[in-house]
Amino acid sequence: MIVSPSILSADFSKLADEIRDVERCGADWLHLDVMDGVFVPNLTFGPVIVDAVNRISDLPLDVHLMIVEPLKYVERFARAGADWITFHIEAEDRPLETIKAIHAQNVRAGISISPPTEVKRLEPFLSMIDLVLVMSVNPGFSGQKFMPSVLPKVRWLREKREKEGHDFLISIDGGINAETAPLAADAGVDVMVSASYIFGSSDRCRAIQSLKSL
Ligand code: DX5
Ligand code: ZN
Repeated sequence: MIVSPSILSADFSKLADEIRDVERCGADWLHLDVMDGVFVPNLTFGPVIVDAVNRISDLPLDVHLMIVEPLKYVERFARAGADWITFHIEAEDRPLETIKAIHAQNVRAGISISPPTEVKRLEPFLSMIDLVLVMSVNPGFSGQKFMPSVLPKVRWLREKREKEGHDFLISIDGGINAETAPLAADAGVDVMVSASYIFGSSDRCRAIQSLKSL
């Protein structure tokens, strides 16, 4: 299992220490939640912080854009050091162009779907993308409750990938902890994103290892 701690629950007053801590504990990627206060009812950070994290860490940066018109910002996040750029299908009228723009920057492209969105909406893009991020909470905040009702999306993606020979990874994001992670693993995810469970744990290494071993 690939584990991608979301720094949304880290202590930003000592971000470098927080990142080194999860790196030492075996984190595979770092998940960076970019929010614009329009697509979601919360604001976080933009390319300046992505660039700072890139200078602190050698881990692949898994940038999750929860912003409207992501196509406009692809180049800026790529320049800041993103290795993966994932945008929301609900936020972009030109998904094809967005995927192409991400690939043109030599960055891997992902599409995310919020809980109310039908997974079939991703069908036309599955042969082109490198990752599908299935949201298991409504995007906007860490620390929300996992929604098991999204797990059939993971199973559908898994089957589709097998049948049609695609090679995107399946990631899950929201409410992942010791109880919910095994459910997501059973459904077939490749990547676990987790903020509060990892950063809020008194033993972060144990939390990361518990996800990695699934
Ligand atoms: C939510 C973000 C998530 C969030 C996960 O909109 O996309 O990445 O940080 O937080 P937890 O793991 O606490 O649910
Ligand atoms: Zn996220």
